[in-house]
Amino acid sequence: MKVAYLLAFLVVVLLSSCGKDVAQKDASGLSVESYSYITNSEAEDFFNKNVGPNINKFCKLCHANPAPTYTDAKKMIVAGKPQESKLYLKATGQDNHKVVWAAGTEKAENLRKWIEMEQ
Ligand code: HEC
Repeated sequence: MKVAYLLAFLVVVLLSSCGKDVAQKDASGLSVESYSYITNSEAEDFFNKNVGPNINKFCKLCHANPAPTYTDAKKMIVAGKPQESKLYLKATGQDNHKVVWAAGTEKAENLRKWIEMEQ
């Protein structure tokens, strides 16, 4: 009888550990749950991991987040062309905007890499 209880307990533990935890936090502890982790491309995956959380955190320090989702961000770029992408220009202090991430720094580079991955 005791063995049956033990087995039932183990089954419950195993089943409850199956779900993948998608609520991730960035280094500062800010939640980045507003970004979808269901991806349909390598570029989208890269965006969700390395670009979206930074946009979510930094751009709304001064005004509304201009790109709260991957789809919104895609509308602000020209695929493959960072220097023609409003999102990259604004973030790096071009196009009549304050420098948020200086060109060449990690966050700016991740944004550039993502735009180059898109096609
Ligand atoms: C230090 C403050 C500050 C930060 C941080 C900031 N912005 Fe801005 N942003 C401004 C100001 C000021 C304006 C001009 C406000 C206006 O046009 O009404 C502006 C305007 C914009 C506009 C133009 C809006 C329009 O209607 O044309 C875009 C796009 C933009 N920012 C993108 C970004 C992005 C992307 C980020 C994050 C990478 C960012 N901003 C972070 C201060 C900031």
